[in-house]
Parts: sequence; structure tokens; C-alpha cells
Amino acid sequence: MADKQSQLNVGGEAFDFPVLEGSTGPDVVDIRKLYGSTGKFTFDPGYKSTASCESALTYIDGAEGILLHRGYPIGQLAEQSSFMEVCYLMLNGELPQQQELDDFSWTISRHTMLHEQLASFYKGFRRDAHPMAIMCGVVGALSAFYHDSTDISDPEHRKISSHRLIAKMPTIAAMAYKFSIGQPFMYPDNSLSYTGNFLRMTFGVPAERYEVVPAVEKAMDRIFILHADHEQNASTSTVRLAGSSGANPFACIAAGIACLWGPAHGGANESALNMLREIGTPDRIPHYIERAKDKNDPFRLMGFGHRVYKNYDPRATVMQKTVREVFEALNVTDPVFETALQLEEMALNDPYFQEKKLFPNVDFYSGVILSAIGFPTTMFTALFALARTVGWVAQWNEMISDPGQVIGRPRQLYTGPTQRDYVPVDQR
Ligand code: SDX
Repeated sequence: MADKQSQLNVGGEAFDFPVLEGSTGPDVVDIRKLYGSTGKFTFDPGYKSTASCESALTYIDGAEGILLHRGYPIGQLAEQSSFMEVCYLMLNGELPQQQELDDFSWTISRHTMLHEQLASFYKGFRRDAHPMAIMCGVVGALSAFYHDSTDISDPEHRKISSHRLIAKMPTIAAMAYKFSIGQPFMYPDNSLSYTGNFLRMTFGVPAERYEVVPAVEKAMDRIFILHADHEQNASTSTVRLAGSSGANPFACIAAGIACLWGPAHGGANESALNMLREIGTPDRIPHYIERAKDKNDPFRLMGFGHRVYKNYDPRATVMQKTVREVFEALNVTDPVFETALQLEEMALNDPYFQEKKLFPNVDFYSGVILSAIGFPTTMFTALFALARTVGWVAQWNEMISDPGQVIGRPRQLYTGPTQRDYVPVDQR
């Protein structure tokens, strides 16, 4: 029983509701009995004031720009951990001992191949299909191949499905890229790291030996860490809602991929680089800043702003640093990076962005790095989906294992016609 109570006055009558406290962050007013007590719903269309669940996975303090995964700051994980270790942490709650990490990595590597018939799915797409369209289709199709692990009430089934999804996403994403450029698919090489294997499947060809560049592998692995999970964002909430009906994990992740594709969400990394390229030179920045501020212009600074962060997105800080590391390792540069730096500085010094607390988010610099590594912009969101899969499956597991879990079914404020009788067409 919650010690703290809150009181709501509805229509002149006072109603008490428990206040629940987490380990950190805002308390919540438990309104599960509000409709039963008052006959009224709450109204929160964008869920700006709504906690949809209880979770122990990721904590964000938007005002302070803090992001923790199982309590560990994203900056420390990005600098000191590996994506495989972060996957273990998200799924199991604690950092692994070396043997536990080795065993986990080995297990994941044993699921990197796709059923050979899944390769045929790619041939059904046009060559110019967006990789996210392919990801939605192929990941959803996995449901048809793993009848041995779709009993979501069985923890072992949930575990192998989670491992399969984490392991196969790099293969599926790399195959989407290969298909788009007409090159043959590359089978996984499990002698490589998770991320090295992905780079080889993406950029290697059967005709030549592929050498993984350590600095690129490290940068890519860090980018995966930065995208692993992010509390109850739109795509994670989609996965939770789909999973609440008992849908199988592959279908739920496919739903998450579909939601992530939107330019307001995971599609922003692709839009942000396209925007930076459209801006081109720094002298054109003021024009775009003014457009972003113009209420009558739908243009927004892509990669800027965030529902939760009203401070600098800590992931963007690491991302900006990683740009410099990749440029140095590959001995490349891109004038778009200078444009991005100057755009950030100009925006952060503009009263509009200051008042609305708009800062660069994870998507602002990621495209610059991915482009330098060799990915086309159309692959950027597919890479986001690849990395976010561990967050989605961890959140899905947490929800399904919650004994209090029920199907998500919001209500509405109805503003349509009240009841009326049908009028035959010859009397209208
Ligand atoms: C991700 O939720 C997550 O955690 C997501 C994510 C994750 O890891 O899962 O962090 C990944 O999706 C990052 C966000 C990527 N999207 C973009 O970069 C697209 C550009 N950003 C915006 O579309 C916007 O900032 C959102 C969608 C990210 C957040 O929108 P909100 O919280 O609904 O806020 P809002 O749109 O109501 O904006 C508040 C105000 C508005 O002005 P007013 O109506 O109050 O006058 O700020 C303005 C907006 O017009 N605004 C912007 C802006 N973002 C918000 N103005 C110009 N440029 C922008 N980028």
C-alpha cells in the first residue's frame, strides 16, 4: 500500500488516489481506479503526463540530460563497455562476469544465420525498396519459422526468441543493404565480433577477404550501445502494446520497427543528414533556422528537440566525439560536419530554441558518422532498429513476466455524432 496519497476533486467530490514512488525520478499518481470511482477518464493524447508501466531497465532525467541503463550512465557504457555486454546487462540486470559474457556472445553467434528460405523474401521486393520496408517484412516473417519458441508464457521460449532477434537483426539489415545494391548476400562469420560480423556482411564481398577496421568496429559498436534502449519511447511503447495482446515476439518487434521508421522518431537520423546536406554551406544556416521557427513552415530541425530531454541528449555528446574519431581513423572529412557544428551553435544561441529547450538529440550527428563509414542514408534507421532490438526485447520480456500484465486498451474522449436512426437512401 502506498504511504503517500493524492486527492482529486471531481465534480465537487474529493477522491483519494495512492502515490507510488520509484527508486528515482517522479512519483506517479496511481489512477487505475479513477474511472471506476469517478466515471471519468484522464485525457493525455501524447502521453506527455502518463507513465504506462513500471520498469527497471532505463532511466532518463530529461532536465539533467541523464540516461542510465540498469543504473549505469550511458557515457560510461559507451566508453568502457561493448554492445554484447550491454545486451547482457539489459536482459539480465547485472554486468556479466567474463565467462558469462563469453557464453552469452557465443550463444548469440549461434543464431546469426537466417533460415535459407528467408533469403527468398528479399527477392519479392523491388531493388529500390526502403530497407525499413524490408526489415518490417522479414522480421515479421520470422514468426513463420520459429514455431518452437512462440509460447510467450515459457521463459525458455522468450529467452531463445530474444537471442534469435538480437542475433539475426545484423544479418537481416546487411542483407537488405546487399539486396539494394545488387551484391550477393554474405553469410555470417562467427569468428568475428557481433559488430565486426555485421560490418563484414554489409561491406564484404565473396570475391575478397574483408578486413574489419578496429576503429570503425569500435565506433559502430558504440553507436549500437547509444541506441540500445530509451525508456518508453514510441516504438518501445508499440512493442509493449503489441505484446500485451499475447502476440509473438517477432510480430511485436516488427511493429516496433514500423513505428521507429517515422521521421519524428528513428527516421530522424536519415532526415537529419538529408537536411544538413540540403543546407550545404554554413552561410545558409540562418535561413533554415528561421524556417524552423516559422509556425507556418512545417520544416523542423531534424535531430533537434526531444519529448523528454530538455537538455543536451547525452548520446549526442558521445556521438559528436565519435565523429572526430571515425574521421581520423578513416582519414576522411565531410563538410557537413562543420555545418552541423555551426548549426548546433547557432540554434543553441537562439532564443526560440532556448525557450523551448531544444537541443541536439541522438540523431543529429549519427548520420555524419554512418555516412563516413559508408552507409547510405536509407540504411540509417535500419541500423537504429538493429541496435534498439535489445531494448525492445528487454522491455517486452519485462512486460510479459509482470504478473500484473494486462492487455493495453486506452479509452477516448468521444466527440462524434450521438445516436441517430438510419435513413434509407431514397429518404435522405
Ligand atoms: C528519437 O522518445 C524517445 O526517446 C525517442 C528517441 C529514442 O531513443 O527512442 O530518443 C529517438 O526519436 C529522437 C527524436 C528524433 N526526432 C527528431 O529529431 C525530429 C525533430 N524533432 C521534433 O519533431 C520534436 O522535437 C520531437 C518529435 C522529437 C518531440 O516533439 P514533442 O515532444 O511532441 O514536442 P513538440 O513537437 O510539441 O515541440 C515543442 C515545441 C513546438 O513548438 P510550439 O508548438 O510549442 O510553439 O518545440 C517546437 C515545436 O514546434 N519544436 C521544434 C523542433 N522540435 C520541437 N521546432 C523546430 N525544430 C525542431 N526540431
